[in-house]
Amino acid sequence: MKLVIKRGRVIDPVQNIDAIADILVENGVIAKIGEAIEAKGAEVFDAEGLVIAPGLIDMHVHLREPGLEAKEDIVSGTQAAAAGGFTTIACMPNTKPVIDNAILVAGVLRRAETEGLVRVKVIGALSKEQQGKELAEIGDMLQAGAVAISDDGHYVSDARLLRNALEYTGIYGKTVISHAEDEGLVSEGYMHEGAVSAALGMKGRPAVAEDIAVARDILLAEYTGARLHIAHVSTKGAVEIIRQAKRRGVKVTAEATPHHLALTDEAVSGFNTATKVNPPLRSRDHVDALIAGLKDGTIDAIATDHAPHAFEEKDMEYKYAPSGFAGLETALGVVLTELYHTGKMTLPEIIRCLSAAPAKILDLNAGTLQVGVPADITVIEPMREWTVDSKKFYTRGKHTPFEGAKLKGKAVATIVGGTIVMKDGEVSTCGEN
Ligand code: DOR
Repeated sequence: MKLVIKRGRVIDPVQNIDAIADILVENGVIAKIGEAIEAKGAEVFDAEGLVIAPGLIDMHVHLREPGLEAKEDIVSGTQAAAAGGFTTIACMPNTKPVIDNAILVAGVLRRAETEGLVRVKVIGALSKEQQGKELAEIGDMLQAGAVAISDDGHYVSDARLLRNALEYTGIYGKTVISHAEDEGLVSEGYMHEGAVSAALGMKGRPAVAEDIAVARDILLAEYTGARLHIAHVSTKGAVEIIRQAKRRGVKVTAEATPHHLALTDEAVSGFNTATKVNPPLRSRDHVDALIAGLKDGTIDAIATDHAPHAFEEKDMEYKYAPSGFAGLETALGVVLTELYHTGKMTLPEIIRCLSAAPAKILDLNAGTLQVGVPADITVIEPMREWTVDSKKFYTRGKHTPFEGAKLKGKAVATIVGGTIVMKDGEVSTCGEN
């Protein structure tokens, strides 16, 4: 089986390529990049005017399987990923039951293999049932194929437990992912603590809660010498603490979400529960610091924290609605609109954050278009204008703070292992690929 993608602007930050070229895919792997490639019998994809990027990787997704399928499942979640241009996603373990043992890791991987439209990696829990008390079966899970360890959704308040998790995960050379918010400081809050929360009369989650948590976790990573990744960084303090730690040589990496890069706490003013998320949307000074951190490499990756909930769960008073919303199908458009079309970042910089960087953090053989690697490719139309309409989402999570937003830039094809799983917004049915 051969596919030749012709005349696209090929951008691969790993190989330092940014040029108009053809790409030949043979038997599911990248076979050649060059000019005017002739391939007899190959399917031809005309990519003139389009960007050809390594398949996008989202290292922070809640697929909700097992147990929470009213919110999402592997089929709907991987369809949403394909629609958004993602060829690989890593799913978080805050499911029911929690993915805290090797059998569950293997089960999700097996189901994703047969049911999933894109590649699925599994992140195992750090503590049993994510209770923050006893270590989960970290070694067994990593041997069963888990790519990282995390109690995402919860901060690991017990420093001793995090130390042990870092040491144990470090033996396998893998990373611990931290949801860094000090629990005491955020316990009663629903949004960022600041002028807007004061005006709305809402209890806040102060930025210092994240700063403290990030600082402690980094000190433990430095002490143990193990790898630590900070999920959904949202404060200027955290950016600066991570920046300094990287200068000292601490093995710390970080991600930011499209919503924290694009929105401020002003969005909460209408009490729309689609703006409720942990950590919360912050004020402008924090957003600006995040963008600066992404630009200078302090923040390595962009990840969605796609956290869908059933419609009726989110359809209630702000205080009682669960935190999180869908992100896979808006991420690329939001990032291109906010960072590329405003001139804040270049396309190669953005593509690196969405492919090579997460691949490196999770040690995946992906995130590049090098000859010989699996042909995971995202075709992007940077100038395509479109309006967010959650009715058209593949995800079950129909809440998004970007509803009705006019965005510029979209994935127009998603290719996994040489097979086109999404074209012009239509995903192939699972099992077809
Ligand atoms: O808002 C959030 N929702 N933040 C998290 O860290 C967890 C997520 C969820 O699982 O719903």
